[in-house]
Amino acid sequence: MVEELALLGGEKAINKEFSLYNSIGNEEVLAAKKVIESGVLSKFLGAWHEDFYGGPNVLEFEKQAAQYFGVKHAVTVNSWTSGLICAVGAIGIEPGDEVIVTPWTMCASATAILHWNAIPVFADIDPETFCLSPKSIEENITEYTKAIMVVDIFGQSADMDAILAIADKYNLKVISDCAQAPGALYDGKYAGTLADVGGYSLNYHKHIHTGEGGILVTNDDYIAERLRLIRNHAEAVVGDKGENDITNMIGYNFRLGEIECAIGIEQLKKLSTFVATRQRAANRLTDGLKSLTGLRTPVINQKGTHVYYYYPLVLDIESLGVSRDRIHEALRAEGVPIGNRYQNIHLLPIFQKKIAYGSNGFPWTSDICKREVSYSKGICPVAEELNDSTYLGIGMCVYALTDTDIDLIVGAFRKVWASLGKLG
Ligand SMILES: Cc1ncc(COP(=O)(O)O)c(C=O)c1O
Repeated sequence: MVEELALLGGEKAINKEFSLYNSIGNEEVLAAKKVIESGVLSKFLGAWHEDFYGGPNVLEFEKQAAQYFGVKHAVTVNSWTSGLICAVGAIGIEPGDEVIVTPWTMCASATAILHWNAIPVFADIDPETFCLSPKSIEENITEYTKAIMVVDIFGQSADMDAILAIADKYNLKVISDCAQAPGALYDGKYAGTLADVGGYSLNYHKHIHTGEGGILVTNDDYIAERLRLIRNHAEAVVGDKGENDITNMIGYNFRLGEIECAIGIEQLKKLSTFVATRQRAANRLTDGLKSLTGLRTPVINQKGTHVYYYYPLVLDIESLGVSRDRIHEALRAEGVPIGNRYQNIHLLPIFQKKIAYGSNGFPWTSDICKREVSYSKGICPVAEELNDSTYLGIGMCVYALTDTDIDLIVGAFRKVWASLGKLG
């Protein structure tokens, strides 16, 4: 007998609260305590001074992160949003330059571009990996394009071979926003390390975290130093330091504290275990869901690995004959922790109204913007269709799902699929 759906008055398939993901253990508590007891919670000075680069835990975390990710430089920052702002400034973006970015991301990937009065241009995404489509990137390149902001969304790398080839062909810089993909591999290297500059978020819902924070990674000595300058009041430092090129040397206080860095050192030791646990859980979910008709489980880039910040699913609405939102409602009623949207950043009011700095449309209405850039609905049909009607996602970052939890989720999907006809 087919069980009645919870949405239609039946019993819920899942009657428990899932445990929240928590990566912090005793090691982090002890590390933080040691810093507090030392009395040195930060050692940065915003001047050309021996403390310009921060205190012992900052320097140690950066050293260990550089070793871990296999790069010459790791630079800590107080959020990945700050990291993206440093990255755009450090590659020398000028006001009015165009930077290609994906709409299927968190807003900071695009606003970091605007921050330097440069113009975000949205290219569409690949329907399978949800990362920027190389073909769409190339279609959006103009004489004003200077860089590509690649986002390794949900935990897997974009098609870096194709993207780096385009960057090479058009002489563009590449930034990798790997906020969600620490530990993911592409071609045997860590995601984020193939670009001119990349990095990871350390906010509380990422695989590893320091409460708030971020780490920039680069193999370029010049870019690394500019990241450090922007992080720490560049304008007050460049004179005494003797920097000739003061382009974008407007600095901030984007410094990460000693406690966070001490915690980060402990978190980094655990990253590969956390990633393996997440991958195991995701594989179990895929094994349980892959036979359901009209449901596409994650497609993994052949050259890479997926670390599953999110577990994305796509529905074939035509073959199912039921709307995504109705299926979403039914799954939620059964107790499945699932969302039915991600992002279409180009459709946010800031881009629709073109109101960012002040109220008169700067930078789009000023002389620095050299052409009319469209943010109309329709410019990114793949990302829009996913958001409007076919995408479903499980936030693996929110819950620590056990095998039993996953089996319950699979059971709930099967229950809904057995009664799809009743949802029409
Ligand atoms: C893709 C992406 N970029 C940027 C950010 C911003 O990171 P943070 O919250 O550390 O500033 C996030 C945060 O979730 C993100 O997912």
